[in-house]
Amino acid sequence: MRKKIVAGNWKMNTTVPEGVELAKAVVAGAANVPADVKLIIATPFTHLCPVAEVVKGSVVALSAENCADKEKGAYTGEVSAAMLASTGCQYTILGHSERRQYYGETDAKLVEKVKLALANGLDVILCVGENLEEREAGKHFEVCGNQIKNVLYNFTAEEMAHIVIAYEPVWAIGTGKTATAEQAEEIHAFIRITIADKFGVQVAEDTSILYGGSCKPSNAKELFAQKDIDGGLIGGAALKADDFIAIALSY
Ligand code: 13P
Repeated sequence: MRKKIVAGNWKMNTTVPEGVELAKAVVAGAANVPADVKLIIATPFTHLCPVAEVVKGSVVALSAENCADKEKGAYTGEVSAAMLASTGCQYTILGHSERRQYYGETDAKLVEKVKLALANGLDVILCVGENLEEREAGKHFEVCGNQIKNVLYNFTAEEMAHIVIAYEPVWAIGTGKTATAEQAEEIHAFIRITIADKFGVQVAEDTSILYGGSCKPSNAKELFAQKDIDGGLIGGAALKADDFIAIALSY
């Protein structure tokens, strides 16, 4: 059965001491969250080691926000999947729209990144989503479908057990403009069908598909109530432990 997941993506926010305090507050609040809702925090690379110490022994899992598309070597400034795994983190986000938009992340690079993350024992939160222009042109199904096919169709059903998908419409990220529950549900259902087409119904049913984009305590309940929405990938609201926990309590 697929997991309910509430994951916080801190993006490029907080210093290390601030991040440690935020993680401590999340761990404290996690005590109230039902055991069937998995909590994940995704922090900048610099925060992973100290935050790993904070979440150790708690129900909160730790994620990175990206990893290199190369195994190791002369790639100045990059951080490999093996390095991430050695910090104690269990997940990495890959393919966030901000990385696609600002850092030239292509589906081909993502295939390499997903391969390396899985090979190093990390689970992957793969982001897909259309931008405003694509949404207005009615291309959102096509765009998300292609992102899924170009990346995930290169993997096996067994590997899919270690992959979570996050649907994040770019026009809803950080804009305060949330997709309606109906808009989100129709894409989530479509993504699940796209997974079923390649891997079969059981794999599709077992894959968690999260919604991301201005998700907050006031709208999480309605979104999470949708049949194909299995939780959220939270940006801004994950920077306040109370809001992040309130979102998790919306389940
Ligand atoms: P916001 O919740 O700030 O819109 O960000 C969503 C997101 O990009 C999570 O990865």
